[in-house]
Parts: sequence; structure tokens; C-alpha cells
Amino acid sequence: MGRVDGKVALITGAASGLGCADAEILAREGATVVLTDVNVDAGEAAAESIRGEGGNATFIALDVADEEQWQQVIAHIRSEHGRLDVLVNNAGLVIMGNPEECSLEAFRKQNAVMSEGVFLGCKHALPLMHESGGGSIINMSSIASHLGYPIYFAYSAAKGAVRAMSKAIAIHCQMNGYKIRVNSLHPGAIDTPMLDQTTSELGLDNKEDLSPVVGLGQPEDVANVVLFLASDESRFVNGTEILIDNALSIQ
Ligand SMILES: NC(=O)c1ccc[n+]([C@@H]2O[C@H](COP(=O)([O-])OP(=O)(O)OC[C@H]3O[C@@H](n4cnc5c(N)ncnc54)[C@H](O)[C@@H]3O)[C@@H](O)[C@H]2O)c1
Repeated sequence: MGRVDGKVALITGAASGLGCADAEILAREGATVVLTDVNVDAGEAAAESIRGEGGNATFIALDVADEEQWQQVIAHIRSEHGRLDVLVNNAGLVIMGNPEECSLEAFRKQNAVMSEGVFLGCKHALPLMHESGGGSIINMSSIASHLGYPIYFAYSAAKGAVRAMSKAIAIHCQMNGYKIRVNSLHPGAIDTPMLDQTTSELGLDNKEDLSPVVGLGQPEDVANVVLFLASDESRFVNGTEILIDNALSIQ
């Protein structure tokens, strides 16, 4: 028996890094996974690789900042699978710049993908998840929602919005009798392509220099927590935030 047998899971930003690891582990544990991303080639390849391992995976193009595309993806999942049990709002990008350097355009782009994208995902997934008898929404935030990182200013604003939004949606679902749990995840530095980008933009020699005290996590360190939240093992875990940072935030 897999830990998420029979569940249908939608993962955004699943072509790379954490989203790809989430899709792999959920599929390995029995879920039907729908990978989505703006990067079509890498997304198709990720789904193909999961199928090669015996998993049940498909890819659909989705820009999370586009409401119409969200409606189409949810309609597709309704007609293909008839249900949705797990939504992982993972898609993201990082635009660096302190509050004085950050342009309004950059701030809006960052928030369109990571704040509005999470809002749209939750809004459009809720009806189908409710019809499916409930489910689990897992929103990817960051320790940037807890700590002060000037250089990640717009990113921090978006991740703070994800943290607060997740709690509001959790209570909304509870008040309305939906059996949908909503939690946010707050990783520290995890070794993904996003980290390579920030290492190079900061002019650092090694990505390890981004987290010299507690080291770097690996994608499966986050994916294992996603698996737990997606499964019924976490049925009483709701409206909370889970730090996955090897104690970085309490140093
Ligand atoms: N890597 C870390 O250290 C770290 C730490 C904390 C939080 N996070 C968060 O984890 C999530 C995944 O990041 P990652 O490290 O795997 O990065 P990544 O760059 O490897 O993957 C991000 C994915 O999101 C996709 N994406 C970007 N814009 C999109 C859009 N508009 N619509 C749909 N997909 C889009 C990209 O194509 C890419 O496949 C992000 O939300 C990120 O902010 C990462």
C-alpha cells in the first residue's frame, strides 16, 4: 500500500527542483500526479520519467499567474480524473533586489506568480476538492516569510502573503465544513536550480556559501514533508506552518 494510494495530486512548478521531487515521491507512494509548469519540455520530460518508473503521471502547461489557464486545468482534471485530493502550490521564481532597488514591475511580477498564483490555485481548486470529499493544500512559502532578507525583498513579500493566505483559507474551509486542510511550508536553502541562480547573482563561488551555518537541504527533505501533508497521516495538521530549515531561523 502506498501512503497516498488513490489520490489525485496537482503540482505547480513541477518541471524542476522541489516540485519535480514532490511529483516523484507522490507518484511512488501511489498518487496519480498531474505535473504543471510554464517549462513545457522539462515538464513533459519529468512526467515521462515518472511513468518510466511505473508511476501515473501527466503534464499540463500552466502559468500560475493566468486565471483562465487555472480554470482550464481544473476542468481538465475534473473530466480526466473526476477528483482532486492534493494541490501543491509550488511554482516560483526569485527576482533579487533590496527595497530601494526593486522596481514596481519586478515587485508585481514576483507577486503575480507567487502570491496571486497561490490565491488562484486555491480559489479554483477548492470546489473540486470539496466535491471530492476533502483534501490537502500545501503552499510553498519560505523562511523568507519569517526572516529579514533585504536582497529578497519582493520574494519575501510574496512568501509572507502565502503564509498568511494559507491560514485564512484553512479557516474558511473549516467554517464551511469543507474537509480541506491548508498548510504552508517554509524551507531554508535547498539545493535546486533556483539556488544556482541566486549563487551566481550574488557573485558567490559556491552554493554552500548561501547557508554556511546549517548547510543545504536536498529536494527530498521537502518532498517527504509534502508526502506527509498529502497523506491522511496528517489529518489533524491544519492551518500550520512547517519550517524545513535545520534550525536556521532560530540561530
Ligand atoms: N530552493 C530553495 O532554497 C527554496 C527555499 C524556500 C522556498 N523555495 C520555494 O520552492 C518553490 C520551488 O522552487 P525550486 O527551488 O524548486 O526552484 P526551481 O527554479 O528549480 O523550480 C521552480 C519551477 O517553477 C516554475 N515556474 C516559474 N514561474 C512559473 C509560473 N508563472 N507558472 C508555473 N510555473 C512557474 C519554473 O519553470 C520551475 O520549473 C518556489 O516557490 C520557491 O520559492 C525554494
